[in-house]
Amino acid sequence: MVLEDFPEIAEIPDPELRTKTIEAWTYSLCCSGFERLSDIPPHGNPGSPVLKRGTQAVHVRGVFRYANAIAREFQAAYPAIAIDWGILLAGAACHDVGKPYEFDPDNRRRWETSPAQSGSPTFRHSVFGMHVCLTVGLPDEVAHIAVGHSFEGNHTGVSSECMIVRQADHGWWQVAATLGLVEADTAGGLGANLTMRPLRSN
Ligand SMILES: [Fe+2]
Repeated sequence: MVLEDFPEIAEIPDPELRTKTIEAWTYSLCCSGFERLSDIPPHGNPGSPVLKRGTQAVHVRGVFRYANAIAREFQAAYPAIAIDWGILLAGAACHDVGKPYEFDPDNRRRWETSPAQSGSPTFRHSVFGMHVCLTVGLPDEVAHIAVGHSFEGNHTGVSSECMIVRQADHGWWQVAATLGLVEADTAGGLGANLTMRPLRSN
């Protein structure tokens, strides 16, 4: 089911990284009430930003392809650069692997009703994603992308592969917002001067 919802995982060149990426999504979904990636709502964080259409699978597949495109562009323009393609693509595939936990309805209820007891959230998806990556035996460098692609990366030096995924992820949301794909009242954090274009009706 993971590969059905996220077929780009098959493009990860290293067989062990590829298998463990599938295990990471499988384990993470099993820690939640969601059966599959395409059951998770298409939000950046719960409630903000909110994508008007599609599922979480649309976002993670888009970031995977976007990160791949950014890296290919630089590799073509500057062949001397060194990119670890296995780490980059496994990291792009796993950057939001913690979202089943952060979006899980039972967890959200727990955090709404007793935040003083549990925290709210107990862990953001980036931190839970790091835990998932390490639990299934993915390398530190992939776990680093899961935790560093989001706010947590503002407080550390991030790897080149993590920077590519951060830019792909943040850029994906900013472009989606300006094209009118994000609910306007949830797009505040995506850029101060975003002009939202209305969607066509078809
Ligand atoms: Fe993301």
